[in-house]
Amino acid sequence: MDIIKALNWRYATKRMNGNKIPESKLNTILEAIWLAPTSYGMQPFSVVVIENVELLKKIQPIAYMQPQVSEASVLLVFAAWNNITQERIDEYISQVCSVRNVTEDSMKNLKVEIELKLKNTIDINHCWAANQTYISLGIAIATAALIQIDTTPIEGFISEDLDEVLKLKERGLKSVVLLALGYRDEEHDHLLGLPKVRQNKEDLFISIQSEIGFTASNINNIKSI
Ligand SMILES: Cc1cc2nc3c(=O)[nH]c(=O)nc-3n(C[C@H](O)[C@H](O)[C@H](O)COP(=O)(O)O)c2cc1C
Repeated sequence: MDIIKALNWRYATKRMNGNKIPESKLNTILEAIWLAPTSYGMQPFSVVVIENVELLKKIQPIAYMQPQVSEASVLLVFAAWNNITQERIDEYISQVCSVRNVTEDSMKNLKVEIELKLKNTIDINHCWAANQTYISLGIAIATAALIQIDTTPIEGFISEDLDEVLKLKERGLKSVVLLALGYRDEEHDHLLGLPKVRQNKEDLFISIQSEIGFTASNINNIKSI
C-alpha cells in the first residue's frame, strides 16, 4: 500500500475486536522499532511486548479503562531509561566498537559528548530518553498502517502504577507511552471513518524563502491526496 493511503487508512482506534495479529506482522513492527533512529544511536529505552490476555486486563484500569488495552492483540510499552549512567554510556561505546570494529580511542569525542549528559539532572536525562521513544512510536504506527494493522498510541495511563505491575523500576526503566496493536471493531468504533482533523497546511508548513526576510507560507503544491 502507498504510504499516504496507509496513513489515511489508519486512525487512533478506539475499539478493537480482540483478534490476534500474525506473528510475522508483529515481528515487522518490532523490526521497524529496532531500526528507528535515536539521538547518538543510544536507544535509551526498552519496549515491553505484552500479549497475555490476563495481563492486558490487569493493565486496563491503569489506562483509565480504555477498551483498546484489553481488546488489543498486543500492547507495546515504551519504557525509557530512568537515567543516563556512566555504565550505560560505556556499554554503548563498547557495542559501537565491537559492531563497527573500531577502537575505543576513535570514539573518544563521541563519548565525551554523551558524558555531558551525566551533568544533567536525572529528570532531564529521563526526559531526553523519553523523547527518543516517540520516534520509534511514530515509525511503529506508520509501519503497522502499511501492513494493515490498527494501532492506538496511548498516553492516558498512570505510569507509576504500570511500572509497579511490570516491575520496570528494577530494570532502570519508566513507562512513557503505550501502543495497542490489533484490528478495528468496525461495528462499535465511533471514530471509524471520521475525517481527519488537522491544522491547515498553510499554518503547519512554513516556507522561508529568503535569507533576510520572512515570507509567509505558500506551500501550495502540497495537495490532499
Ligand atoms: C502520544 C499520543 C498519545 C495519545 N494518547 C491517546 C490515549 O490515551 N487514548 C486515545 O484514545 N487516543 C490517544 N491518542 C490518539 C490521538 O487522540 C489521535 O492520534 C489524534 O486525535 C489524531 O487522530 P488520528 O490518529 O485518528 O488521525 C494519542 C496520540 C498520541 C500521538
